[in-house]
Amino acid sequence: MRAICPGSFDPVTHGHLDIVARTATLFGDVLVAVGRNSSKNYLFSPEERVEMLREACVDMPNVKVVLLSGLLVDFCAEHEVGAIVKGLRFGGDFEFELQMAQMNHALTGIETVMLPTASRWAHLSSTMIREIAGLGGDVGQFVPDSVNRRIAAKVAERRAQR
Ligand code: PNS
Repeated sequence: MRAICPGSFDPVTHGHLDIVARTATLFGDVLVAVGRNSSKNYLFSPEERVEMLREACVDMPNVKVVLLSGLLVDFCAEHEVGAIVKGLRFGGDFEFELQMAQMNHALTGIETVMLPTASRWAHLSSTMIREIAGLGGDVGQFVPDSVNRRIAAKVAERRAQR
């Protein structure tokens, strides 16, 4: 069965990659879909987030990174996706994800599988990583090296524009 790991991935973290790698052991093939969450201000463009994920997933042969446009459930129907996979870090994630899973199920009957995040990465959040990096902090332990370099370049670019 094909599964999808949708998210903003702004930027992708070790926590996301752990969920993608574990999904790739549970399902035949996996689409990692870079989506847009209308309530978020992004640091990276969708295309940059796709590039960062492609670099990070290069050693996962049954994983493909794609750009998500429109409704997730429509994308799943068009691409023969049987399950949406989400990582859960703590109770707050569950409440939000439960509602989204129920809404997506109501729309087309698609199932959502929730995986507990590895405890090692449970404190990670892309929002916090953006804030720490933007204020000059070191986020190198939370993201792949290639992503860390892109964050540093993006932060420097933003500072130069001010
Ligand atoms: O990492 P995020 O920000 O929690 O990811 C949220 C995302 C992109 C997975 C979610 O907003 C999404 O599925 N967007 C696609 C549009 C859609 O289907 N919205 C209805 C969700 S019930």
